[in-house]
Amino acid sequence: MAKVDSGGGQKESEPTFDCMFKILIIGNSSVGKTSFLFRYADDSFTTAFVSTVGIDFKVKTIYRNDKRIKLQIWDTAGQERYRTITTAYYRGAMGFVLMYDITNEESFNAVQDWATQIKTYSWDNAQVVLAGNKSDREGERVITPLRGRSLADQLGFEYFETSAKENTNVRQVFDRLVDVILVKVSQGGDVDPSITSGAKATRLTDTPPEPPKKCAC
Ligand code: GTP
Ligand code: MG
Repeated sequence: MAKVDSGGGQKESEPTFDCMFKILIIGNSSVGKTSFLFRYADDSFTTAFVSTVGIDFKVKTIYRNDKRIKLQIWDTAGQERYRTITTAYYRGAMGFVLMYDITNEESFNAVQDWATQIKTYSWDNAQVVLAGNKSDREGERVITPLRGRSLADQLGFEYFETSAKENTNVRQVFDRLVDVILVKVSQGGDVDPSITSGAKATRLTDTPPEPPKKCAC
């Protein structure tokens, strides 16, 4: 299998991953996007709410179908005032986690608008998982799983209910997203060459990574 080197001072011959997928987490402010990423990447959770300013990202490497896959996961600010900045990062994304809060009707009603943003600013074949977060707050639930699933079906998205707090379905969301992206990639042909890549991995910085070069998937 062909390999891509991630750079970062490692030798040319030292393969570090087979492909890199850029994934964005989007949705209204306070639905739990940052918490979800911290749970996934660092297995940590805090009840403190520090609203994200602009955009940030973390990198995590996973194994799927004998492939070593580097995920570059971008955590976007949900606040409207950052929309121009965050949508600029949609380009090149292969997958999105579109999140709402099951205790917040407004965040669910905004899903359609977020889906339109994906359609407008990203690649046509970008894969999307709709995640109804805060499933641990059953007593305050206002969005039933049935409503969540029907909206996901209507939009052609995958669907999960999740809890960053209790670590419910967090890994599963990313595994599913990677699986559907891999299917797209294996179908070949219509993959935007700027999307899958061996871009150098960087952690938590304001500047976007180097432009992608080549995918070996
Ligand atoms: P912005 O950065 O403003 O877009 O918000 P965000 O979507 O990143 O929300 P954030 O992750 O900062 O979480 C907002 C609040 O919800 C915090 O107080 C978290 O502790 C809380 N929270 C996040 N996920 C969960 C969850 O699964 N369950 C519960 N009970 N609380 C959660
Ligand atoms: Mg945040």
